[in-house]
Amino acid sequence: MLQANEILNYGSNFNLHADDRHPAFKKIITRNPRMGQIFKIIGKVAVSNGTVLVTGESGTGKELIAQAIHEISGVPGAFVPVNCGAIPENLLESELFGYEKGAFTGAANSKLGRFVLADNGTIFLDEIGDMPLQLQVKLLRFLQEKTVEPVGGVKSKTVSVRIIAATNKDLKELVKIGKFREDLYYRLNVVPIDLPNLKERQDDIEVLVQYFSEKFAKEYSRRPLVFSPDALWVMRYYSWPGNIRELGSLIENLSILTDSDAVYANDLPEHINSTTPRSLSSQIECVMTKLPDNGVDFNDLVDSFENNLIIQALERTSWNKKAAAKLLNLNRTTLVEKIKKKGLEVKKDPEDELLN
Ligand SMILES: Nc1ncnc2c1ncn2[C@@H]1O[C@H](COP(=O)(O)OP(=O)(O)OP(=O)(O)O)[C@@H](O)[C@H]1O
Ligand SMILES: [Mg+2]
Repeated sequence: MLQANEILNYGSNFNLHADDRHPAFKKIITRNPRMGQIFKIIGKVAVSNGTVLVTGESGTGKELIAQAIHEISGVPGAFVPVNCGAIPENLLESELFGYEKGAFTGAANSKLGRFVLADNGTIFLDEIGDMPLQLQVKLLRFLQEKTVEPVGGVKSKTVSVRIIAATNKDLKELVKIGKFREDLYYRLNVVPIDLPNLKERQDDIEVLVQYFSEKFAKEYSRRPLVFSPDALWVMRYYSWPGNIRELGSLIENLSILTDSDAVYANDLPEHINSTTPRSLSSQIECVMTKLPDNGVDFNDLVDSFENNLIIQALERTSWNKKAAAKLLNLNRTTLVEKIKKKGLEVKKDPEDELLN
C-alpha cells in the first residue's frame, strides 16, 4: 500500500503525489516534464465533465490520453471512439445520431447513434478537423442542447456525454480558411491538451525503448532487446515523423527479426542511422569496446562526449542549469563555463537573469 504522502518519481523531473497516480497513468510512459504538466491537467479535467481538445502530430498518443481521461473519470458509461475522417460523409450523421427505421433506403431497422451509446460515458471524436461543415452545425447544436435527434426521427433524447475531440491538424488555420466553424472551435477548445512530438521528447526515448522492448518480448516470447549506447544516441537524434507509433513499430520489427538480444546503431534501418552525426556515435561505440588500431583524436572525442552529456542534461531539465549541473554532479558555475566555452547555449534558462 502506498502512503498518501508518498511521492512517486516518474524519472528525474516531475513528481506526482501517489493520490494522483491512477493506474491509467501507468500506460503513458514518459519522464518528460511537459508530459508531467499534461498529467496534472488530465488529473484535473478527468474529475470534471469538461470538453477536451487533444492536439498533436500523428502517433503522439492522442487516443491514449483520451482513454486515460475516460478511465480516470470513473464514469459508468463506455468510451466510444468515432473517426470523423474515416466514415463517409453521408454516413457520419447517422453514425453519430442514429436513425429510425425507414429513415432512408436501406434503413430496415432503427439504429442507436454513438452519442447514445456513449451516454454516461465519453465520446472520442477523432480527426475532428475532417468533420464536414454541415455536420459541424449539428455537433454544435448537440453541444449546446445535449439532445440527440436520430435521422428520420421526431423524438429527441437527452444524453450525458463527455466530449473529447482530437486532431493532428491546425484547427485555427482551418477556421481561417473557412473549413472549420469558429464557434465550434471555441466550444471544443475548453481544455486544450497539446501533445509534444517525440522529437521534442528526446528524454523519453530511453524509457519508451525499454517499455516497447519488454512489451514485444512478451508478445513474441523472446528476451527483451537491449540497445547499445550508440543505438540510443542515434534514436535520440532521429526526427520520428511517425512519433511513438513509429518507435513502437520499429521495436516490434526488431523484436521479430533480430536473433541477438543486443541492438547496435548498425542494426537500425539506414534512414534512421544516417541522420545522426555518425562519426561521433560510431567512435564512442568503438572506443568503448576497444581503442582502434589507428588511434583516435582524444580531444575531439572527449569534447563531443562532454557535449552530448551536457545537452542531454540540459534537455532533461528544460535548460535549467542548476538542475542540469546537479544531474552531472558539477558546480553550476563549472557547467556555465563549459556551456559558454563550447557555445552550447541554444535555449535560455529563465533563472539566468536572477542568478547572473
Ligand atoms: N507515452 C506513451 N507510452 C506508451 N505508449 C504510447 C505512448 N504514446 C503513444 N503510445 C502508443 O503509440 C501508438 C500511437 O498512439 P495513439 O494512437 O494514441 O496516437 P494518436 O496521436 O491518436 O495518432 P493518430 O493521430 O495517428 O491517430 C499507440 O499504440 C499507443 O498506445
Ligand atoms: Mg488517433
